[in-house]
Amino acid sequence: MSHFDTLIVGGGAAGLLCAITAGRRGKRVLVVEHANRCGKKILMSGGGRCNFTNIHATPANYLSANPHFCKSALARYTPYHFIEMVERHGIAYHEKELGQLFCDDSSKQIVKMLLDECSAASVRVETSCSIERVSHGESDEDRFRLHTTRGSFSAPSLVVASGGLSIPSMGATGFGYELARQFGHAVLPTRAGLVPLTLSGKHQEPFADLSGVALPVTARCNGTSFSNYFLITHRGISGPSILQISSFWQPGDDLRLDLLPGRDALEALQQWQRDRPAAELKTVLGDVLPKRFAQRLCEHWLPNRPMKQFNGPQLREIAQVIGDFALVASGTEGYRTAEVTLGGVDADELSSSTMQSKRMPGLYFIGEVVDVTGWLGGYNFQWAWASGNAAGNAV
Ligand code: FDA
Repeated sequence: MSHFDTLIVGGGAAGLLCAITAGRRGKRVLVVEHANRCGKKILMSGGGRCNFTNIHATPANYLSANPHFCKSALARYTPYHFIEMVERHGIAYHEKELGQLFCDDSSKQIVKMLLDECSAASVRVETSCSIERVSHGESDEDRFRLHTTRGSFSAPSLVVASGGLSIPSMGATGFGYELARQFGHAVLPTRAGLVPLTLSGKHQEPFADLSGVALPVTARCNGTSFSNYFLITHRGISGPSILQISSFWQPGDDLRLDLLPGRDALEALQQWQRDRPAAELKTVLGDVLPKRFAQRLCEHWLPNRPMKQFNGPQLREIAQVIGDFALVASGTEGYRTAEVTLGGVDADELSSSTMQSKRMPGLYFIGEVVDVTGWLGGYNFQWAWASGNAAGNAV
């Protein structure tokens, strides 16, 4: 049995940041990672360039049954704390859009930076190390014990940073949720978030041959809206606007698109009627929307005639369809392609300043395993860093 001050399960974003923070404080830290390398999700993130933070991150960008929970950790570790480390390591980055910071070169630089920081803080990292059993307080000492394929380790604190269920092929497991239950924690229902939606049957048919068509929209669901690109896929719909809204959508919920975001559809139609009375609706729409999409709209949902032939009420009906286009999604693509897992370890049972369990002293949960889920755009890594920092300063 090797003894440490802190054991961390999961060498992903949250686990590594926590290890660095605790290691810098002189703690003897062990990170146990079951995959053959750390940070696989970081490597695949942001299309290989890792959208490592968002400079506009605030608690309003996160979903949780306890919306106040993330405030303390986010306030104490801001995007600028992480940017300071990125700059110290000479990693070039840029803002893509909407405050999203990406590496100029490669996500590998972020993983290397985190592992270099771990070594500088004397953190031990064990990869390809599977946990067989977790126990606590078996002897007179109040220690956690990890029994693994690489030996047994003990420490007075255990940090669970094993992530969510998305992308099982990258090492995602339900381990953190099982461990939470083992120690008496409630786990809120989980579901895939930031995920493409599927269409089926008569709701998919009109889009079947439009795979690859993309256009800017405002997607609305359950009182939330996101303006960004919408993409038709082989199985349904995706693109940033749909990925964002997917976290707010559940089967049966009403999902609407404004196909002319930022414009009043009725005013636009009236203008086109005045300017181009002989042009057909599909032609004028084809000048502002992808042509194949405009044509399909006029085959399935809208009457196609020269603009001068529409009367006032008809124009209003067309404007209604364009500005409030109803989509009936059948489901999501699930964890196979989801960027995140919604739900998880109930934040009400954790300290918001340290991430420590209120039920089991010495036990901490950080990152995606907790019921805190960010929007698309660097917010999820910012939560991983911030919650990792909070626990790393407390263990
Ligand atoms: P994370 O999943 O990073 O790490 C958990 C670690 O625990 C993994 O290394 C896993 O192998 C390990 N583990 C699991 N079970 C274990 C066990 N039983 N024993 C030992 N180890 C175990 N976010 C963002 O902000 N910007 C972006 O650009 C992207 N892009 C992106 C792309 C794709 C394709 C995905 C799937 C996700 C993103 N994300 C993202 C989301 C982001 O990757 C995610 O929110 C964080 O990685 C979560 O960090 P964690 O450390 O909590 O989990």
